Amino acid sequence: MLPAPSFAIRTKAALRPYWRHIRDLSQLARFCAYDFNRFRRLSGTFPLRMTPGAEAARITKYYHMIEKGLALPAPRPGFGHYAIGELCALLDKAINEGRSGEHVERALDSLLAYRAFNSRHGGATPGCLDHTLANAQARKIACIPDAIKQATRAEILEATAFDAERFFWTRYSVRQFGNAPVAYADIEAAVRIAQSSPSVCNRQSARVHIITDPSQCAALLRFQNGNRGFGETMGALAIITADLSHFVEPTERYQPWIDGGLFAMTFALGLHARGLGSCFLNWSASIDSDRGLRAAMRLPDEETVIAFLAIGTLRDAFTVARSPRKALSDVMDTKNFNRGFK
Ligand SMILES: Cc1cc2nc3c(=O)[nH]c(=O)nc-3n(C[C@H](O)[C@H](O)[C@H](O)COP(=O)(O)O)c2cc1C
Repeated sequence: MLPAPSFAIRTKAALRPYWRHIRDLSQLARFCAYDFNRFRRLSGTFPLRMTPGAEAARITKYYHMIEKGLALPAPRPGFGHYAIGELCALLDKAINEGRSGEHVERALDSLLAYRAFNSRHGGATPGCLDHTLANAQARKIACIPDAIKQATRAEILEATAFDAERFFWTRYSVRQFGNAPVAYADIEAAVRIAQSSPSVCNRQSARVHIITDPSQCAALLRFQNGNRGFGETMGALAIITADLSHFVEPTERYQPWIDGGLFAMTFALGLHARGLGSCFLNWSASIDSDRGLRAAMRLPDEETVIAFLAIGTLRDAFTVARSPRKALSDVMDTKNFNRGFK
């Protein structure tokens, strides 16, 4: 008679059907820990790590609260004292320690606009505001009261009087590129268009790294698993990232991917507007691939990779995947349109 299998063998056999789940669960835990640690170490959440990027993000966050308050239909005179207090403290520190820049100037602009608004409407302005403005003036930092601007319906209607459906539905993921090189001017124009993307408190954490050298592209594409069969034909590779130092609260832990994703999409549409083709390439990467890519391209530690984008010129005719979309009724819930919640 055969000896009874050992406890270890019996346990292994019993777990076999669940092996994949166990492996995936442990991987998920490791990936979450990796992201957690990166956010903990590199975001601007913990004031002990107030890098210039984190400081700029905080200043932008608070001055945008003022801009946004002034852009409401009927701003309340004297609104936002808490934001003003935080902003003035941050600005005084930056100015006193010799750090300036566009975000400081823009923040001062919004303080001026806020003071002008309050004096027009009889709202109280916190004393710290005058002190900060005087401090900036003493150090000759320029500012102009232009926290808001006028938009018109006519301008928007004129700009959108084109076949928008056709524009959007002719953006395909292109995997067959032309031989002509990608022009620098087109990439630059598309990045400018991408800069129109909204971002949380206008903090603009997204960056895009453009690589055109074929051997460099190939070296970086080794870490990505969705470019087989066409990776080598792209004219340029874009790597879109978000700078974690721009995020200043634990609740913002997913914001890098949201802001970076919005930027990436607008960039792809910008390329489309310039007559270039592109194809997103996922960054659903393992920790090893992420580390490998970072080292290979010397990516600053605080930047998190959002996606790759393959870019190239268009051939006269080419094949694209059909990629059919779900039925509208699967994505649009209209049961509460023009009705209260039931
Ligand atoms: C974040 C993201 C990652 C993607 N990754 C890949 C990829 O690795 N390889 C690829 O060939 N296509 C990739 N795609 C392209 C999708 O397959 C494509 O967008 C989808 O099928 C819709 O088709 P369309 O872009 O032509 O409208 C990706 C798209 C997105 C948005």
